[in-house]
Amino acid sequence: MVVDNKGTISYIRVLKEDLAIFRVTPNDGPIPDFKAGQFVTLGLHIPTEGKIVRRAYSIASQPEQKKSFELVIRWVRKPVPGRLTTELFSKKEGDEIIWVKPTGIFTINEKLHNGAPDNRRMVLIGGGTGLAPFISYSLHMKAIGSRREIVVLHGASYVDELSYRELLTELEQESIDSGRDKWNFRYRASISRPQEWFNRSWGGQKGRVETFLRPKAGTDRSPLEELVGEKITTENTSFYVCGWQGTVDGSLDYLVPKGFVTERNKRKDGSYEVKFESYG
Ligand SMILES: Cc1cc2nc3c(=O)[nH]c(=O)nc-3n(C[C@H](O)[C@H](O)[C@H](O)COP(=O)(O)OP(=O)(O)OC[C@H]3O[C@@H](n4cnc5c(N)ncnc54)[C@H](O)[C@@H]3O)c2cc1C
Ligand SMILES: NC(=O)c1ccc[n+]([C@@H]2O[C@H](COP(=O)([O-])OP(=O)(O)OC[C@H]3O[C@@H](n4cnc5c(N)ncnc54)[C@H](OP(=O)(O)O)[C@@H]3O)[C@@H](O)[C@H]2O)c1
Repeated sequence: MVVDNKGTISYIRVLKEDLAIFRVTPNDGPIPDFKAGQFVTLGLHIPTEGKIVRRAYSIASQPEQKKSFELVIRWVRKPVPGRLTTELFSKKEGDEIIWVKPTGIFTINEKLHNGAPDNRRMVLIGGGTGLAPFISYSLHMKAIGSRREIVVLHGASYVDELSYRELLTELEQESIDSGRDKWNFRYRASISRPQEWFNRSWGGQKGRVETFLRPKAGTDRSPLEELVGEKITTENTSFYVCGWQGTVDGSLDYLVPKGFVTERNKRKDGSYEVKFESYG
């Protein structure tokens, strides 16, 4: 049974007209236990419909942070205005909101199919707001002192949609400063509309985020392989992908021919290297 809890929108950071970071603070008690990668369901009363509409949002904050849920949310406007997001984007800090306790299976694999610890590099591919679960993954891995290698790859249409650029850049800097034997973190972004005037300052990777996996012209190495300094194999790397179904499919187009297998299509022995979540 769905149990609605009361919360307050405690913080709103508008990144652009239709993209914002929200924090939801429970009215009673701390944030319940959850796992990095899970989602919370938000509910708002829609006056024109006379009822509550509920939608799922990946939690960007880490489970260790017990004050509020942090979420990064797109206001859906096309082809018709989204029901919950249109209401949400008219709210202000201090307004009430309903939340339902976190759930979901898009979580970090800690063990391999044979029970051994999963120490493979984690490549986290997020398209747009699909970055949200990977912020939670990264902050959680930092909080528990993990030494696993983490590579966050974020794709966005415009530079002002690189929602957690400062945080992720700082996490990479910490890795450089402390040494990769203590905290092993890399972050790169790709801008998919580089020709647009607003993106004129962008000097990084261009194209949709999955182009990080495509071998560069005239070589057999992808930008990801150049970044990590070795060939990506099923033994050394696991992938987590979140965003549009096209981002998932675009990533699998490169990975499946190399022998990578998804969780939904795992081998007979239970092994796999790719987890994904999308609904678009
Ligand atoms: C596990 C999970 C995690 C998610 N995490 C996030 C997240 O972190 N951030 C985020 O921004 N989103 C996330 N989402 C998406 C979110 O749950 C909502 O689906 C999204 O915000 C749209 O909700 P809405 O009520 O505003 O739109 P809806 O009203 O549900 O509309 C959805 C789409 O259908 C279209 N539509 C609706 N009615 C019609 C119609 N009559 N004819 C044609 N088209 C129509 C709308 O234009 C829109 O494109 C997540 C979804 C899932 C399942
Ligand atoms: N846990 C989850 O399941 C979860 C969590 C968060 C978000 N999401 C979903 O993730 C999606 C991202 O939404 P958004 O508004 O944040 O994205 P967006 O800003 O519209 O797009 C982000 C990036 O994805 C590219 N893209 C757009 N459509 C694509 C397609 N069909 N195939 C491949 N790439 C595509 C864009 O490229 P162009 O510039 O070329 O358009 C852009 O580079 C939505 O479906 C969202 O609801 C799911």
